[in-house]
Amino acid sequence: MLESNEYPQLVICDEVDSTQDELRRLLAQGQASNNQAALAVMARTQTAGRGRLGRSWVSLPGSLYLSIALALPEYSVEVASLSLIVGLAVYEVLEDLTGSQQVIKLKWPNDLVCPKGKLAGILVELNQTEQKPQHVIIGLGVNTQRPQSGASERAAYLSDLSDITLGLEQLAELVIKSIMDYAHALQAAEYSFAGFRDEYNARLSLSGQEVGVRNRLGQILAEGVVAGVDESGLLLIQSGDGSLAKVSSGEVTLR
Ligand code: BTN
Repeated sequence: MLESNEYPQLVICDEVDSTQDELRRLLAQGQASNNQAALAVMARTQTAGRGRLGRSWVSLPGSLYLSIALALPEYSVEVASLSLIVGLAVYEVLEDLTGSQQVIKLKWPNDLVCPKGKLAGILVELNQTEQKPQHVIIGLGVNTQRPQSGASERAAYLSDLSDITLGLEQLAELVIKSIMDYAHALQAAEYSFAGFRDEYNARLSLSGQEVGVRNRLGQILAEGVVAGVDESGLLLIQSGDGSLAKVSSGEVTLR
C-alpha cells in the first residue's frame, strides 16, 4: 500500500542519457527501498531524452527532466489510467504556478499544451525485471525557461505564461507531491479512472473538433470529432456516419 506520507527520494544529476534509464540503473542496483514511493531522478540536461511513440525529447538546460519510480501494487496496475492521472497532477501544478486558468489544456493522452504550443510531455514505462517489487517509471519533461536559442517552434515554456522564479528542484518537488497525491487517490479508487473522468474532460483540448488519430507509423486509427474520454480513459471519436471509435493510444492532430 502507498502510505500518504511517502514521497520518493530525489536524486539530482547534471547530465544523463535519459532520466528514465538512470532511474532504471539505480533500481537495478537496489537503490530503492521496498516502499511504493521509491525513487526519483532529475537531470539538468539529457543527451538521449526520449518521448512517446519512439520520438526523441530535446533536453536543453533550463527545463525540467524528471523520472519517478512507483512500485506496482500486487494486483495489475492500470498503467493507462496512471498515465492520464499524471497529466491531471502536472496540470494542477502548472495552472497554480502560472495562474493560467483555462489557458493550459490536456491534449490526450497526457500532453500539456497552451495556445503557444506544448508545455510538457509525459512518458510512462514499465520496468520489467526479475526484481520485486516491479516499478512503473513516470517520466516528464516540463518546458520551463525559454532558451536563448534552440527552442522548438512547437514548444511553449512556463516563462511564456508568467514570471517563473521557482528553481527546477522546487518545481520537481511540487510535481512529485502532486503526482503522489493523485496516485494515492487512484489507489483509493482501486485504479479505476471513472471518478477522474469529469475532471479530465473539463481540461481536455480539441473537444468538439475534427481530428485524426495516428499510430507511431503515421497510419490513421480514427477520424472524426473528439467527444471526450470514457470511464477507462479511452478517447472517443465520433465519425461522420455516427459510429463511435474508442482509441487507446496514438497521436491526435487537428484535421
Ligand atoms: C512525450 O510527450 O513524448 C513525452 C516526453 C517525456 C520526456 C521526459 S524528460 C524526462 C524523462 N526522460 C526521458 O528520456 N523522457 C522523459
